[in-house]
Amino acid sequence: MAARGEFSSRLGFLMAAAGSAVGLGNIWGFPTQTAENGGAAFVIVYLALAFLLAYPALMAELTIGRAKRANVVDALGHISEGKVAHYIGASVGLAGVLTASLILSFYAILAGWMMSHMVEPITTMVGATDASSWLLSQGPFRDTLFTILFSVLTMLIIVGGVREGIEKWSTRLMPSLLTILIALILYVLLQPGAVEGLQLYLVPDFSRITDPDLLMNAMGQAFFSLSLGVGTMLIYGSYVSEQENLPRLGASLTLIDTGIAFTAGLLILPAMFVAQHYGTPIYNDAGELAAGPGLIFSVLPSVFDSMGGIGPIVAIAFFLLMTIAALTSSISMLEVPVSFVSEHFGVPRKIATFVAGFIILSFSIVIVFNFEAMFGFVADLATVYFEPLIGLAFCVFAGWLWSRNEAMKALASGHPDGEGAWFVKVWPYYVKFVCPTLIIAMLYPTIMGLF
Ligand code: TRP
Repeated sequence: MAARGEFSSRLGFLMAAAGSAVGLGNIWGFPTQTAENGGAAFVIVYLALAFLLAYPALMAELTIGRAKRANVVDALGHISEGKVAHYIGASVGLAGVLTASLILSFYAILAGWMMSHMVEPITTMVGATDASSWLLSQGPFRDTLFTILFSVLTMLIIVGGVREGIEKWSTRLMPSLLTILIALILYVLLQPGAVEGLQLYLVPDFSRITDPDLLMNAMGQAFFSLSLGVGTMLIYGSYVSEQENLPRLGASLTLIDTGIAFTAGLLILPAMFVAQHYGTPIYNDAGELAAGPGLIFSVLPSVFDSMGGIGPIVAIAFFLLMTIAALTSSISMLEVPVSFVSEHFGVPRKIATFVAGFIILSFSIVIVFNFEAMFGFVADLATVYFEPLIGLAFCVFAGWLWSRNEAMKALASGHPDGEGAWFVKVWPYYVKFVCPTLIIAMLYPTIMGLF
């Protein structure tokens, strides 16, 4: 078997994993969820859940991945002895592969929207008004074209492998993402109306804090944002060297991910109130704040339009930011099926990439042509149900089915205090009892709501 890939350094892993974690979920999902769920109250619950639940669950994926050095199906299949355990593990792994592919199938469509809006200011500047209006109106042909472009870009990076593909491109793109984000924030905060957005974002409405919807939304957001529950972090963990201090890497990753989500809120919410200042309605008839596609594709562009000559540049920068965020996340989703197909069946990586990539792309196109019926359904199925359930299964595997000695050894490798570290001692119990209880408690109302 060909040697497995490995990230070249701690920084390489952090860039790749942060590239995965930081995506549309951070820049679009988090700020709008915050606005819908009582502002800072949501931020507080989200941060608590990110560190108390998502972080330990992330450690389950990273640790299993690094210890088993395999894709999600083979890693889970070999977590404990015995045929039954093997089949259960492999099935959960397959569910992860399927869910990662489902997420990518709708995510690539969203990313395609970002790309078409990135190109549009250019057609406007050169006076191609027909092209502009085509680029701005959602339709099967525009969406197919841009979904294909985006998916091919994703495949071209994944073909390169761990160092020359994932790591190289994440290391190039993540600093650009941060630079664009900060530049946009500085610009927007100087515009009239921005402060009102900051207030909504940062002043908590504590009456909302025990709302079960808020808790569910915060958990879903935390899982999605850290790319949990499909094996993405497991496969990235499998490319980390034994010398690295894994709990620390995971903590840094959680900090970076929540930090960037929080920072994105400083852009999106003030920008909405700047739009309002310029006369764009930001509340719907029911008094709810714009959050869905309307926010990204009409409210924010209206701010760009009101900026005069610099507007198109700011618009391009914003949609470039979104495209980059989506791209480094999509590569991590595609890596899940690709690593499975290439390792498990011994297929060359190139073939695995294009086979998996084109199957997923075909499914995206089916969604594009049946948008109303399928998009929301696929997105909810994958992220509201499958992701937390599989995330729960990862915790159960790490806590109940894996031998505690082996788990602790795997976690402790590279930690300066080894198995004496408090985190290494506490984590096996935490992931065994606390994580599953929290996930089940929060999933319970959703599951009950089905009946
Ligand atoms: N975390 C990314 C975001 O916030 C999305 C993402 C990438 C993802 N890989 C994933 C979500 C795997 C779930 C599973 O947008």
